[in-house]
Amino acid sequence: MDLFEYRNGELFAENLPVRAIAEAAGTPCYIYSRGTLESHYDRLVEAFAPIAPLVCYSVKSCPNLSVLKVLHERGAGMDVVSGGELFRARAAGVDAKKCVYAGVGKTDREITYALKEGIGLFNCESEEEFENIARIARENGIVARVALRINPDVDPKTHRYTTTGKKESKFGVDLERARRFFEKYGRDEFALLEGLHLHIGSPVYTVDPYREALTKTASLVDDLARAGFTIRSIDLGGGFGADYESSQTPPLKEYAQAIIPLAKPLFDRGIRFILEPGRTIVANAGILVVEVLYTKTSGEKRFAICNAGMNALLRPSHYGSFHFMWPVVPGLDMTPARRTLDPKLPGTAVQDVVGPLCETGDFLALDRALPASLSRGDLLAVFTAGAYGMSMANRYNSSPLPSEVLVSGSSAHIVRSRENFQDLIEHELQTSALNVIAPLKNAPELTRTAR
Ligand code: LLP
Repeated sequence: MDLFEYRNGELFAENLPVRAIAEAAGTPCYIYSRGTLESHYDRLVEAFAPIAPLVCYSVKSCPNLSVLKVLHERGAGMDVVSGGELFRARAAGVDAKKCVYAGVGKTDREITYALKEGIGLFNCESEEEFENIARIARENGIVARVALRINPDVDPKTHRYTTTGKKESKFGVDLERARRFFEKYGRDEFALLEGLHLHIGSPVYTVDPYREALTKTASLVDDLARAGFTIRSIDLGGGFGADYESSQTPPLKEYAQAIIPLAKPLFDRGIRFILEPGRTIVANAGILVVEVLYTKTSGEKRFAICNAGMNALLRPSHYGSFHFMWPVVPGLDMTPARRTLDPKLPGTAVQDVVGPLCETGDFLALDRALPASLSRGDLLAVFTAGAYGMSMANRYNSSPLPSEVLVSGSSAHIVRSRENFQDLIEHELQTSALNVIAPLKNAPELTRTAR
């Protein structure tokens, strides 16, 4: 599953004690394991080998440059959803041709930037967006390759905030509209409409929604062929699960076994497959380490108050997500055998693990069985935090962002330095200066606008 494991009563990241890393880097900090990243990526490539997909790692899940570089060196392309993410991918050395660009709100500037970089595919989400891409491509004399994001109307049975493939979602166009879309735009000379893209949701713990979605996609490909349109690529998106609890997610080869029989005939007809995995690669490749500042009891409730909460890891409070957490140095007797809601060890007490922010919603776990001995100065590891952890971290209550560390075997590198108080105000100082020298009419350029 990953290379974070307890040895002799303390947690190791690959060959290094997490306690030592936390002492050197300070907390809160994210720690990533290079070996885990690589093995997850390799397993995915191996599982899907019969359809040789281009694996475009989903940058949004964990966009740290060093993480991108590890996967780029392994051969990954990137799935980006903004100009900023494309910039990161390019900074990590990824060829724009190996990048696919989705997102319902691409601005003109972002489209122009992606075109000039030579983006592999725009995953287009609406008619207006297509017309815009085509116009910008024509004006710049650059041919854009476009895939239409379709909405296959399947229910991935995941959190409603991360369900994307149902008809009522803001993403993509439904199958009926997709046919009309090709009729209307499928012959544009500057925006070549030649692929289909879908992403049904995240995380998806059963394989059936993929089967259903791909079956519908295959029949759309046939319909389009009959109407004279050739599909060259199908991007199946991401969404494969991760082990928030031990053995929670089907192995990658199970997803592959469901998808390949449907995909192979299309592959044999010359259609190139693309996958956009994020979570399944990086979630278990990262932990967040926080320190207990205080413990207290209010009424019947016990609290462990930590030096970071929803500012560093938003998922528990935003989605009600479960993250296993446990002391970094629990001792031999208190080492859990599995990551689960209650590891059933003697000497635990139910407690809320909360952050320091002034919000009741600021927690990492509610009613969690943790060692009763948990006290000031203890380090807690929050597992499966690599995906949508640091990428959704924020500075609420003027909390500097955590640092990030990448471990490889017996070495560790800071791959994002801890922010300090000066960092918190740096941009506000710059904005003050801008307001003095720039007339206000220039200000809209700094915001996300349609034109
Ligand atoms: N492709 C597209 C078009 C996506 O929208 C996403 C994720 C992915 C790929 C990658 O999905 P993954 O393989 O990582 O499941 N913040 C939420 C997850 C939001 C997912 C957004 N889209 C969370 O913390 O669970």
